[in-house]
Amino acid sequence: MKVRIDGVTKDYRTLWMEGQTIKLIDQRKLPHRFEVTTLENHRDTAKAIKDMVMRGAGAIGVAGGYGMAQAALEASEMMQPEFEKYIQKAAVTLKDTRPTAANLYHAIERCLNAASIGSIQERVSSVINEAGAVASEDLYASEQIGIVGSELIEDGSAVLTHCNAGALAFIDYGTALSPVRFAHRQGKKVFVFVDETRPRCQGARLTAWELEQEGIPYTLIVDNAAGYFMRRGEVDLIIVGADRIASNGDVANKIGTYEKAVVAHENGIPFYVAAPRMTFDLNCPSGDHIEIEERDGAEVTGMWGVDEKGCPTKVLIAEEKTPVRNPAFDITPSKYVTGFITEVGLLKPPYTDAISSSFLKE
Ligand code: MRU
Repeated sequence: MKVRIDGVTKDYRTLWMEGQTIKLIDQRKLPHRFEVTTLENHRDTAKAIKDMVMRGAGAIGVAGGYGMAQAALEASEMMQPEFEKYIQKAAVTLKDTRPTAANLYHAIERCLNAASIGSIQERVSSVINEAGAVASEDLYASEQIGIVGSELIEDGSAVLTHCNAGALAFIDYGTALSPVRFAHRQGKKVFVFVDETRPRCQGARLTAWELEQEGIPYTLIVDNAAGYFMRRGEVDLIIVGADRIASNGDVANKIGTYEKAVVAHENGIPFYVAAPRMTFDLNCPSGDHIEIEERDGAEVTGMWGVDEKGCPTKVLIAEEKTPVRNPAFDITPSKYVTGFITEVGLLKPPYTDAISSSFLKE
């Protein structure tokens, strides 16, 4: 993705490996500060996933794979039984961070398989290669999703999106924002309504920042304004990402997605979900079987930002002791989804057939 700092434009990926370390854009600091940080070992990586230093299903999947590569390198001098124990434990530590995104589990399972055959040196190389393959597939899928999805965006369209399913949620391009990027590069006029996305404001902080960097016109709206603009006929289509998609097409995505889908249906607005193969969980029969992460209530009672001098600060908007429920995701039943934008093309209903015939079961 293009990042402009002090008038100089540079290309960045969301995260990458350098030797045994992971380098990544610290997403907690955006949009006020652009900072690249370093994760020294797989435990640091697990903590960074949990604390949302990087977030978004694709990015945490790649981080999970790289975390496994770090663990394999950390164990490279061990004998086989210790190596196996270390890798298994690292997989549990990395999985035990955020339960909803399918990509994280997918990447870790692939790396675990890679760690199971050959000499220790061969196993270490296989895990590193597998983590690299997850990252390359993520990149390829995001690009293809952009190409497939851009055909759905007509010149002059207004797209509404929720949360951040942009380059920062993957290695680059993103899912929901990838069609928008491609349409813009094709010279189409495209405008984006950016949902603020309480409580962590990934729309306000990250999606708005990405669109600004790319020079794509947008406007930030509060979450509860989306229905207002839909009813006025100002929204032509909705594109969101996904954290896990069940085999019947039910979608887990950022809390509030369900409401957008229902209101879009009510107003006859197409509602698309953009996601790579890695987000489809063919072993999960429906949305009722998807574990939904519940996060700390402090995310709801407080807000983080910078003061007028640019210093990071937190303000309380409710009393700290206020009882809070804070589910991070919700389920959108497949009946509200107009189509899935994937790297293998646009999937249309009936989804159980479309999904099973497009993707092999793992
Ligand atoms: O809690 P987050 O910021 O990790 O949630 C991200 C989302 O819900 C995205 O929409 C989703 O991951 C799809 S884009 C990879």
